[in-house]
Amino acid sequence: MAEVDPYHLLDRAVIAARAGAELAAQWRERGIGAVDTKSTDTDLATAADHAVEALLSELLLAGHPHDQLLGEESGESSRGEGAIAAEDTDRPATTVSAEPPAEGVEPLATAEGVRWIVDPIDGTVNYVYGLPQYAVSVAAEVGGQVVAGVVVNAATGEEWTAVRGGGAWRSGVRLTCSTEETLQRALVATGFGYDAARRAYQASVLTGVLPLVRDIRRLGAAALDLCAVAEGWVDAYFEKGLNPWDHAAGGLVATEAGLLVTGLRGQPPGPAMVLAGPPALHRQLHDLLVEMQADGGP
Ligand code: IPD
Repeated sequence: MAEVDPYHLLDRAVIAARAGAELAAQWRERGIGAVDTKSTDTDLATAADHAVEALLSELLLAGHPHDQLLGEESGESSRGEGAIAAEDTDRPATTVSAEPPAEGVEPLATAEGVRWIVDPIDGTVNYVYGLPQYAVSVAAEVGGQVVAGVVVNAATGEEWTAVRGGGAWRSGVRLTCSTEETLQRALVATGFGYDAARRAYQASVLTGVLPLVRDIRRLGAAALDLCAVAEGWVDAYFEKGLNPWDHAAGGLVATEAGLLVTGLRGQPPGPAMVLAGPPALHRQLHDLLVEMQADGGP
């Protein structure tokens, strides 16, 4: 068993995410390169997505042969087994994150090392169109639990960080979520998948939700949606069909800002549903989404 300090993991995540965001911004300035389609004609991956993921992988795994990485573009990769690197056991002298370490966040014992969960560019469609709402997302998972995460909006440089038990932060400011308790007054963000049948089903769910809330927002990057609920810029967020890289880092930021981040019917957040809301609102939105069978369909 070796010990890892979650703040050290956050520092590594922040260094990688900032470099990734800079690279994404450079590609955007120079032209985004080749655009490929993935699961459907609307699901895009640019050359920049691949280049940023390769950079994240290099920065996070170099010198850490025991670590693994799950990335949107390359899937699950492993650098193989090995001893826990010495760097993992000591906190670096300087901290790169603007987040002050919290008391009571203890080092974690692990025999398996860290699994990094990364989205090189979340909001690829926005990126292709030049809408300034796309992000690099890096989360560190230890023992099956996300313990540190960072989301960097590559267009604006805004950076959200969280360590489990240490709060959610942007630029040295600790975040607290909305205190809205009434569904009718809630501004709710959501998103849609890339498959046409799934979209039709999601639209039918929305017809049941839209009349009962203040309004709906579709910003186009799940990681940033989760940071937006952490900020209180929207009151709640839900989406079916997310992958771990979409919500790993942002989900921790939202949780640490006081939101409940779950699936439906007692499930953890996952492909069937990610629902983030302040406790009282979460309950009401949860029940409405269950009524609408929002976790069903294609
Ligand atoms: C997508 C975005 C979008 C969400 C989709 C995701 P990508 O990620 O987060 O907001 O609605 O479900 O797949 O493809 O841009 O990395």
